[in-house]
Amino acid sequence: MRNTTLYTSECLFIEGGQRLKGSVRISGSKNASLPVMMSSLLTDQVCEIHEVPHLLDVESTIELLQVLGVDVSYDGGCVRIDPSKVNSFVAPDNIVRRMRASVLAMGPLLARFGRAVVAMPGGCSIGVRAIDQHIKVFEKGGTFVRVEHGYIHLEVERIKPVEYTFEVVTVTGTENALMFLSRCEKRSILRNIAVEPEVIDLVEVLKSMGVSIEIEGRTAIIKGNAELKGFDHKVIPDRIEAGTFLVAGFMTGGDIELENVRVEHLGSVIEKIREAGACVEILAPDKLRVRSEGDGIRPISISTSEYPGFPTDMQAQFMSMCCIARGSSEITENIFENRFQHVAELQRMGADIHVKGRTAFIRGVKKLTGAEVFSTDLRASASLVLAGLVAEGRTIVREIYHLDRGYEKLDEKLKGLGALIQRRPTFDIT
Ligand code: EPU
Repeated sequence: MRNTTLYTSECLFIEGGQRLKGSVRISGSKNASLPVMMSSLLTDQVCEIHEVPHLLDVESTIELLQVLGVDVSYDGGCVRIDPSKVNSFVAPDNIVRRMRASVLAMGPLLARFGRAVVAMPGGCSIGVRAIDQHIKVFEKGGTFVRVEHGYIHLEVERIKPVEYTFEVVTVTGTENALMFLSRCEKRSILRNIAVEPEVIDLVEVLKSMGVSIEIEGRTAIIKGNAELKGFDHKVIPDRIEAGTFLVAGFMTGGDIELENVRVEHLGSVIEKIREAGACVEILAPDKLRVRSEGDGIRPISISTSEYPGFPTDMQAQFMSMCCIARGSSEITENIFENRFQHVAELQRMGADIHVKGRTAFIRGVKKLTGAEVFSTDLRASASLVLAGLVAEGRTIVREIYHLDRGYEKLDEKLKGLGALIQRRPTFDIT
């Protein structure tokens, strides 16, 4: 495992102007791996998870499981988890602060042990990100909740079946609720659930453990099982990494193939990039080719929404692309209230962007110019790397630990496609 502190002091040097060419393999999904790893807490049997990407968020999840007493090993993308000796129910502040997805420990800990203590996640750089919906499901199921000294204490004697309609569609909220109810043998109904592919991947795992889950539209009917089995699972490919490479291939005027994708998870992203003029060929259900036909980027209009709509996690990358489109684009962010932090950094590179409320108006410019820019969150960092690939001259992207939280070897993969990109310690900047 890599040394996290070392990583925080690195940056990327990018010389723009190379057309990307070649083939790239997409890694397993970060946002599928994290809940699936947490779901191992539901059983006392060994679980094996394959295609888990090597990322800081995966390291943090492993650390959290180990703090709880779980035996975890990670080798070449395979995580082996022996959860038979859990001896703590506390997700400590230092890990929750680093990774909000730590709240996913609540559901399975409550289900198996009837208790969980998790540091309050607080705000994060992309918005408030409340967890009230997670808590409401736990309370409906009979959980007593109190907040003390910065920690949420949850306790339940016997989980009651739940009938609940989510007030907002929440990905980790749905995942936590499903795990919470998965040992309750009476029938529960959840309405207005998130149906992101990562949620469905978790559903597959829970089913293989012995839970009965039926999903119809945005409704889930769950009949749990008090004796859950271990599992062997391969996580789905990362649709956001795939989308990021689609944008990279197209906006650099390149021609690249993406391997290990699930085309059916990329519908709205493929539709939008085609609208912008990209030629996307579906070579197989797990293989795509994207190329530019040489007549630039058409302006587009995007509005983020829950799956199957356009993902908020692709908004920043598309914005970089719109910066050099032939005309004015509009991007409306409907999921998070503060997810335009990349705008100020893109402006440093010459982008013409104006934000009003939840909408960014982007007037395409002829070229971006390289600059020193700061990563503020994971997807914002990716957007700056993309901008650097097409900017004139050198771009230095700092604080790339954000990038390392969620993209496996992004710099090495881009280098393999012909990008001039180098990872260096920050003190190397002259
Ligand atoms: N919300 C509430 N109450 C809740 C839960 C959510 O008001 O109890 C609100 C949030 O504040 C937000 C909206 O509902 O405005 C959607 O939030 P959601 O809960 O769906 O987000 P999340 O589960 O915390 C996951 C991904 C994010 C991704 C979002 C939306 C993981 C680990 N994280 O977050 O991924 O942006 O869903 O699709 O699955 C990323 O990978 O860069 C990332 C941020």
